[in-house]
Amino acid sequence: MTMQHDRRGLPQAAASAAAMQAFDATVEAYMAFERQTGDRLKETLGLDPTMPMALCLKGCFLLLFCKRALVPPAAKALAAAREAANERAVSPREMHHMAALQHWLDGDLQAAAATWDDILIDHPHDLVALRMAQYLHFYLGDAVALRNSVARPLHAWSDAVPGYGYVLGIKAFALEECGDYAAAEREGRAAIERNRADIWAAHAVAHVMEMQDRPEDGIAWVGGLEDAWEGCHNFTYHVHWHRCLFRLELGDHDGVLEDYDTKVRADRSDEFLDVINAIALLWRLEQRGVKVGDRWAELSQACRDLSEDHRMVFGDAHYIMALAAGGDPAAIETALASLQRFAEGHGSEEAVARAVALPLARAAIAHRQGRFGAAIEALLPHRAALHRLGGSRAQRDLFEQLLIDAAVKDGRSGLAKALLSERALQRPGNPWNAAMAKAAQNADSPQPA
Ligand SMILES: [Fe+2]
Repeated sequence: MTMQHDRRGLPQAAASAAAMQAFDATVEAYMAFERQTGDRLKETLGLDPTMPMALCLKGCFLLLFCKRALVPPAAKALAAAREAANERAVSPREMHHMAALQHWLDGDLQAAAATWDDILIDHPHDLVALRMAQYLHFYLGDAVALRNSVARPLHAWSDAVPGYGYVLGIKAFALEECGDYAAAEREGRAAIERNRADIWAAHAVAHVMEMQDRPEDGIAWVGGLEDAWEGCHNFTYHVHWHRCLFRLELGDHDGVLEDYDTKVRADRSDEFLDVINAIALLWRLEQRGVKVGDRWAELSQACRDLSEDHRMVFGDAHYIMALAAGGDPAAIETALASLQRFAEGHGSEEAVARAVALPLARAAIAHRQGRFGAAIEALLPHRAALHRLGGSRAQRDLFEQLLIDAAVKDGRSGLAKALLSERALQRPGNPWNAAMAKAAQNADSPQPA
């Protein structure tokens, strides 16, 4: 094992220049959301089966699936990385990556994110550290940390450094989540100018268009770029999900259902993000009075096993919504009891389950059963903590919409108008807001005898 240098000049233990190049190709595929990312990693490990960073990255990739069954193999990959690091020279940076993965395996997401952020202080060109830190800040619901994490290494980046466009795309999304829409769109477009296939940058700009209620722009934006995403993995479905949100705002319900069947839910996979996309879309459709047929049956079935994994409570909150919509009381009860048991634990996600996922789960179940007062009672005291669930503001808007819908349907017009006023401050031109404000007003008006 010798010390090689990656594309950005960072020293790294690798058996050969060819193995180092294969690792670089893996990182490139990871940054580009490529379907071949796993194959690139296998090629790297084929050339150097004990490369510590490749083994560490394998552990990270396994955890990114958010499946309990993949935690032991992730731990095994980390153990192999540590064993390899004992037998050859590795840099402190590589050791810190292993420490970060250990924190993640231990359930301390904050410590894992902080460790990856620390790596970026001395090694601002470490794209793996940047993406991992971003992922965890995102699911910890900390938009400011998301922005600061990408801001700090920027001093070392320019077009002279390979991968600069990806950093611009990451910056764009972080700015968007902090509400700095103009800068986010500018940076996202700058990333796309450098690489039209940069789906994360495209996604960041789609988020801006969602939050600014520009559905026509959003549909044109996604449609104008989607041919570049043929090599991308299932994240493409999430961007199609965004297009469905734009179509929803325009009242194109048939178009949404068609995209649901042919894109968003075409694979019927049990991948974390795929399932969440589908649940969030069906729920929004039904809340608008759209009949979704038997689509919940397949989805709630997929959520039965997932709902006991508890790898990311943002997922748990959604899975219970699907089970509630599926209508099987035993499945609902099992999932809720499992979440309650999980919430008694000591990790980062367990704390979020206690603070907000459990109240939200109870609210979703009550809403689905038509007990709108109970839904309000369950969720209203905890809504200020909703961001702790993680995910994007556009995704969490589902939970705000659930509460507003419950307020309207429970005849709590004062509460509905208050919540809508608050939402209107963020999204002044939102058509759903206007429709719900009208519904709340109608509830106030005297009914004809
Ligand atoms: Fe998104």
